[in-house]
Amino acid sequence: MVGGVLAGDVASESRAPLPEKPLAADAQAPSTHDPEAVARAEAVFEATLAEALADSGPKATEARAGRALTPKERLGKLLFFDRRLSEPRGQPCAICHGPEVGWTGPLLFINLTGSVYEGAVKGRFGNRKPPSSAYATPAPILHLADPAEGLFVGGNFWDGRATGEELGNPAADQAQGPFLNPVEQNNPSEAVVVAKVCTGPYGDLFRTVYGAGICQNVARAYDSIALAIAAYEDSPEVNAFSSKYDAWREGRATLTRQEEWGLELFKGKGQCANCHPPPLFTDFTYDNLGVPRNLLNPWYWQFQFNPLGPFYVDLGLGAFLQTRPEWAAYARANLGKVKVPTLRNVDKRPFPGFVKAYAHNGYFKDLEAIVHFYNTRDVLPVCLIEIPGIPGVDCWPVPEVGLNVNTTELGNLGLSPQEEQAIVAFLRTLSDGYAPR
Ligand code: HEC
Ligand code: HEC
Repeated sequence: MVGGVLAGDVASESRAPLPEKPLAADAQAPSTHDPEAVARAEAVFEATLAEALADSGPKATEARAGRALTPKERLGKLLFFDRRLSEPRGQPCAICHGPEVGWTGPLLFINLTGSVYEGAVKGRFGNRKPPSSAYATPAPILHLADPAEGLFVGGNFWDGRATGEELGNPAADQAQGPFLNPVEQNNPSEAVVVAKVCTGPYGDLFRTVYGAGICQNVARAYDSIALAIAAYEDSPEVNAFSSKYDAWREGRATLTRQEEWGLELFKGKGQCANCHPPPLFTDFTYDNLGVPRNLLNPWYWQFQFNPLGPFYVDLGLGAFLQTRPEWAAYARANLGKVKVPTLRNVDKRPFPGFVKAYAHNGYFKDLEAIVHFYNTRDVLPVCLIEIPGIPGVDCWPVPEVGLNVNTTELGNLGLSPQEEQAIVAFLRTLSDGYAPR
């Protein structure tokens, strides 16, 4: 990238402004990341590196058939799992996008509470829950699909601001963000990231894939790093399409009666497929479901990056459109809307009791709760007090953003408890790695 979008867009993942200069003292502080999660990422990194080194030579430049990664994808995988690419070290992409949880946040305690992840620098949290980094590559470039309705489609991030205009793919634009974001990997410049890659243990692979001179041109090298990550994210290792649902579609598995009923409700009475159509289970549009605030989000107390403190409101796509003169006229109609996430891997977890968080702010802690919300948002009364963690029993809190809430496709679906359960059972068939017996 050459200045452009990301320079204006603060290195992406959060909309926080860059600090004037990194705080010297806290840049030295060790990361508080779960050592087990870091160790897991490290193990994947080491194994991939060993494969890459064993494979050097002319063969390495040939794309290979089957499920083996191409050299470019393997390079992307190394970049994704490399803990050296943060400042201080210790925070690879995989720390917030763990494969064992379907490429989203892998820490139970965080998911159970604020649901936003700590950056490489201790105490700096982002503002949103990490969405899955899988199935992000098929997103089209963000575009105005219907001017009459102000309908936008495409992009990466909850608010679409990794548009894809820069590198031709939203996931590649996205991958340039985290390395430089002060609340994420916190590297001081593109040059620093490029130097780490060029002088590191897979520098030769980088040169093999992108040409011997690649390290001489920082802008081009930084673009190439992002493109390699996007290539890995697009590989069958990440976009695996290997769930029970996929096996069923190919005639290699049978759904239980409850799962089939759930699928029927998903497409029919529940209206889920309006926005989450198979096979990607997202149409890359934007909506405001009226999800309540997550009061446990530490972002509310991050005054250094969030001057509004507890008054911060996540305005989603609308806030991003405001920054683009050609789209600003559509901002108001899109305030509070966030991207429809894929539902693939929504139930993927390392063990049955592991808690995952759902929606852009992680307000929901299980699939039952979010499905109950779709069903009863407009049926139950508004809660008088916002108590985190006890949603949907006899009331729902007010929406985080009251504008543009979708009241036509959700809120009062008339589903029975058994129907809600069937939909959840169907969602559980979408986890990759299903092994037919
Ligand atoms: C500190 C945690 C953290 C780290 C580290 C991190 N991410 Fe993310 N990621 C997030 C959050 C939070 C979002 C959503 C941000 C938003 O919407 O504003 C996100 C969004 C994404 C998305 C968008 C998915 C979609 O469908 O829109 C992709 C892809 C992604 N990250 C890949 C990466 C890659 C590649 C890296 C490493 C270069 C990385 N992430 C590092 C937390 C993290
Ligand atoms: C009008 C479009 C729309 C419809 C209809 C819809 N969804 Fe969603 N869904 C979204 C959007 C947008 C989000 C993200 C909301 C947010 O973060 O505030 C979402 C989020 C989710 C999530 C959380 C995923 C995650 O990774 O955090 C689940 C689960 C989900 N939807 C399931 C369903 C089910 C089941 C139905 C049908 C009962 C359904 N959706 C109907 C648009 C829709």
